[in-house]
Amino acid sequence: GILIGPKGRGSNMAAIADACASGKLAAEAAVVVAPNDTSPAVETAQARGLRVAVVPPGDAYGARLLEALQGVDIVCLAGYLRLLPSEVLREFPDRILNIHPALLPEFGGKGMYGMHVHEAVVAAGKTESGCTVHLVNDVYDEGRILLQRRCPVLPDDTPETLAARVLREEHQAYVEALQSVISSQTHVTGGR
Ligand code: GRF
Repeated sequence: GILIGPKGRGSNMAAIADACASGKLAAEAAVVVAPNDTSPAVETAQARGLRVAVVPPGDAYGARLLEALQGVDIVCLAGYLRLLPSEVLREFPDRILNIHPALLPEFGGKGMYGMHVHEAVVAAGKTESGCTVHLVNDVYDEGRILLQRRCPVLPDDTPETLAARVLREEHQAYVEALQSVISSQTHVTGGR
């Protein structure tokens, strides 16, 4: 189950879905959960024939998310900017992943998303950035780190050029992290 945000571009969602479709991931992209049906990510999902569930925040949000995620084993946040309701965290212990466009624990936390992250990395004069796939808990960007991929920050980088370089790493990182989560689940549970 892939959760996207209100203005989702959907490139990580597409990378995951394509890895499932090609057999690179032994998984199925069962549902894309979106807060509205107006983002480019929803179009991208529909163009791939993925099931889209529109779940806007509001009353009983957690229960409605859980309903949309029925039958799902692993939840991937991809551009989803909120903290998840506690009942969703409880339902998927150690099975909710997020990707962050920097090398956590640096440049994470509330308000550190999208271009804010890359602006901060460039402003700090870093020579290296990258992305982090981590487990999700009730604090922004603080769950256990599963995998990081690194890339250089070049002297003439703008936040935009850096973001594009990091994004290429993100697509690989998410698939690699999912491969290891899926294979460890398969070994532990004997497969499904
Ligand atoms: C990515 O940069 C990801 O790291 C962050 O949100 C962005 C989503 O991009 N969490 P996309 O919608 O997957 O293209």
